[in-house]
Amino acid sequence: MRLIFLGPPGAGKGTQAKRVAGELGVPHISTGDMLRANVVAGTDLGRKAVAHMDAGDLVPDDLVIAMLTDRIAAEDAAAGFILDGFPRNLAQARVLQTSPAGLIDKVVLFVVNEDEIVRRIGGRRGCPHGHTYHMEDHPPVHPGVCDVDGEALEQRLDDSEAVVRNRLAVFGRETEPLISFYDQLGLIVEIKGSGPVEHITRQILQAVRA
Ligand code: AP5
Repeated sequence: MRLIFLGPPGAGKGTQAKRVAGELGVPHISTGDMLRANVVAGTDLGRKAVAHMDAGDLVPDDLVIAMLTDRIAAEDAAAGFILDGFPRNLAQARVLQTSPAGLIDKVVLFVVNEDEIVRRIGGRRGCPHGHTYHMEDHPPVHPGVCDVDGEALEQRLDDSEAVVRNRLAVFGRETEPLISFYDQLGLIVEIKGSGPVEHITRQILQAVRA
């Protein structure tokens, strides 16, 4: 099954994509995680992307499209995938549509109000291996330390309030037009992204299997 998870920053795309990917046996492909890994590794791509990411702006299309195209051509993605954070604008969506793996089954649209987004992102902490917590809703057992690998938890640089406001504006300007793009293709399933995580996972599974 080939799915796109679409929604504003902090809507829970990553949280749900990990769970749903596990259930469906397909890889979770997050362009944000891939870019952050490149930044940490100090690759050429990471060096070109980092300033855009820290400002909450989109990384240039040519860089992201090349990275994503390689990833979805990998063997583990042959039977399907969940795209989290891609496409982010109409240019990216059109390239995906014409690529060999571009036949998408469903686009899961996460609906969450803006106050909740700012609250969620403000409380988000993560470890370098991608395990994510929320200081109030889903705190680690030992404060500041990842339950899974014992690494120190950190706040993402782009999770400061000013940058989050810009990320929301970028979402409205660049990414929201994708809702009508995919709606016209009959692919959108809308999911209420607030409430217990397990309940949202069940709703997504029900919707994509329908
Ligand atoms: P990216 O990493 O994709 O960030 P994002 O889309 O802004 O999404 P987030 O990771 O902030 O949120 P999420 O929806 O995954 O929420 P999460 O599950 O973590 O992109 C980062 C940057 O990379 C971009 O700004 C851009 O620069 C660049 N980039 C990436 N892709 C690109 C592309 N295609 N083109 C160009 N540039 C690109 O949840 C958030 C918090 O809420 C967590 O603390 C979580 O624990 C909590 N939470 C989750 N679900 C619930 C719930 N049901 N109830 C309460 N709390 C919850």
